[in-house]
Amino acid sequence: MNVHHKMDEADRRNRLDDMAQGVLSTPMDRPEGPLKVSGTAPYAHEAQPEGMLHGCFVRAPRLGQVTSMNADKALAMEGVHTVLHADKLLRNPCQGTANEAPVQGVRDVHYVGQPIALAVADSFEAARAAAQAVTFEITDADRNPVTPQDYETPEDKQSAQGDLDKAMRDAAVTVDQTYSTPPHNSAAMEPHASIAQWDGDRLTLRGAYQMLKYNRNELADSLGIDPKKLRILSPYVGGGFGSKLGIAQEAVGAALAARELGRPVGIAMTRQQVFEATMRRSETRQRIRLAADAEGRLSGIGHDAWVSNLPDETFSEPVTQATPFTYRGAHRHIGHHIARVSRTCAGSVRAPGEAVGITCFEIAMDELAHAAGIDPVELRKRNIPEEDPTTGKPYSSNMLAKALDAGAQTFGWDATCPAPGSRREGEWLIGQGMASAVRVNILMGSKARVTLDPDGSAVVETDMTDIGTGSYAILTQLTAEMLGLRPDQVDVRLGDTDNPPASGSGGSWGASSAGSSVFLACQGIRSRIAEQLGTSEEQLTLKDGQAIADNRSTPLGDLLNEPLESLGEIEAGDTSDKVRQATWGAYFCEVAVNSVTGETRVRRLHGTFAAGRILNPKTARSQCLGGMTFGIGMALTEELIHDPRDGHIVNRDFAEYHLPVNADVPQITVDLLEERDPWSNPMQVKGIGELGICGAAGAVVNAIHNATGVRVRDLPATLDKVLAGLD
Ligand code: MOS
Repeated sequence: MNVHHKMDEADRRNRLDDMAQGVLSTPMDRPEGPLKVSGTAPYAHEAQPEGMLHGCFVRAPRLGQVTSMNADKALAMEGVHTVLHADKLLRNPCQGTANEAPVQGVRDVHYVGQPIALAVADSFEAARAAAQAVTFEITDADRNPVTPQDYETPEDKQSAQGDLDKAMRDAAVTVDQTYSTPPHNSAAMEPHASIAQWDGDRLTLRGAYQMLKYNRNELADSLGIDPKKLRILSPYVGGGFGSKLGIAQEAVGAALAARELGRPVGIAMTRQQVFEATMRRSETRQRIRLAADAEGRLSGIGHDAWVSNLPDETFSEPVTQATPFTYRGAHRHIGHHIARVSRTCAGSVRAPGEAVGITCFEIAMDELAHAAGIDPVELRKRNIPEEDPTTGKPYSSNMLAKALDAGAQTFGWDATCPAPGSRREGEWLIGQGMASAVRVNILMGSKARVTLDPDGSAVVETDMTDIGTGSYAILTQLTAEMLGLRPDQVDVRLGDTDNPPASGSGGSWGASSAGSSVFLACQGIRSRIAEQLGTSEEQLTLKDGQAIADNRSTPLGDLLNEPLESLGEIEAGDTSDKVRQATWGAYFCEVAVNSVTGETRVRRLHGTFAAGRILNPKTARSQCLGGMTFGIGMALTEELIHDPRDGHIVNRDFAEYHLPVNADVPQITVDLLEERDPWSNPMQVKGIGELGICGAAGAVVNAIHNATGVRVRDLPATLDKVLAGLD
């Protein structure tokens, strides 16, 4: 049976609250956890078929055009099978949800580090040696500058209402500052990897990808084959953070080489290749203008962003995504400017938009609070609008005030706001800082099949992925809850394009979208059982393998002669046109800054978040912990550095690209608020995957100001920048 639901209206039935099994919204361990920690879950490069060859990319060391290539020496080396310099090889990795081939053609070098050929050999070592032995000529060609210079200002990305200049002139308190954030890399632990295997004209690709429904079309289009002849398997993914939303160079390289050689070919990109050839987050420059009355009430907001990308790329970091609806103010201005540069492709990285946009905005709000002499928490509360101030539409829910209050209470926020630089412990200066968290909430179309067996076990099939987020866990719990089963009776099968196509993992929409399709499929099964018992789905209780109706209990096995199969499909309707949907939260941070060295230590970091119904507080909390850890990195250390001469990424490894490690991260605390958002989907669930990074760095930077009086506007707040402001 098929159950299809289009989300056009609020769904206030809260059906999940009526279920009886009691496994949903509990902190259940991941069912696949033991496989992962014992090293037996096969990640993309670990499911190696017999006779697999290894590929390694040849790196372009300069910009220009490849006019000739000589692979004779490489081909003469032991164990080397081929060197591919094919036009179909990807120049750029693919943007998320592109659904078609990205920019191909490796003869034109648009960024240093671009793969320009592929060496294939018996071992990775032999392939790498061969790649290094390939010689080529690259001649000068017209290329964009490596440092952003000229900016395009696309009309559809600008907006304004009222008169911001006048609001600024009339305001009692204003802020007009420019902030900057550096480029970032997703830095997933698992490097990009694919294994391609042909059987006649059919291709199976084991890859590490986030959105298989799109990835299949992207790869098929890149190769010029029918998507129906392509199966992608992605059961385990070691982190994506946006860099695996679309296919990357290794998928196409492995497929082309495997076809030419008639043998399976696997490519695991090296860490350096991941850094310089897969997605980066664009650097941003942001001018933020705030106009407020003496009580800190905003009358005007201006947010201009300058970002960059390669030519022919449609993506540009949506820095101002949440600015139109977060705070009040009748006079508003949004600007967006894009420079074309010869740098690694810019795409989605860890909450594109809000991660850097809200962060800088929340630093500006801290400046406003300081200028107006108002507690930063109170300042935010005074500026929470009744409705979306740009569109006039109602919020589906707005939990910002609750998160601010609850977070301040838990953290022990000092609302008297001690003066900057007034707390000292020996040579350490102590300060507190806070920031709001905001992220748009999105529902995407998704399908799943659920089959209930007479023996009381159930199978869930969808091409949804689990990129470390907990998809296996929450879909197991959801199914067990809906069908009255133990979690160990539910087998969730993900990451296979032969299964019904899901939303994929990205944009924080995975749990709500893929979850809704599983919810609907389960409802179909419940309806069928209810029908058999002569009752309605609403009157039916399923618990511990029993169907209970009219006070009579029947074992599920007695009701089913054969497996009961149900396909659920959620479709995004026009709820997002009717209401403004977002997730909300607040961060509170205490830092100690060394007055001699300028070193910042984060001592405490707390986050309170609201994202609708929480399906599993353990996996949800883990998402927030990860986001806040990235926030510490964004605030203090994380920065891709492009050489100003040729644009190449200088720090392309984990030794020089500083992600926070255990010693940098205190015991982070996370609280999740109870919420039901009826506009989100039939489960009242919203996305929580990226909420924890959207503004977190702002709390850290604001705490540095409170500790020292030094206002860092150019992230990250490295020692030199803090020290420069200390007396
Ligand atoms: Mo995300 S950056 O949409 O995986």
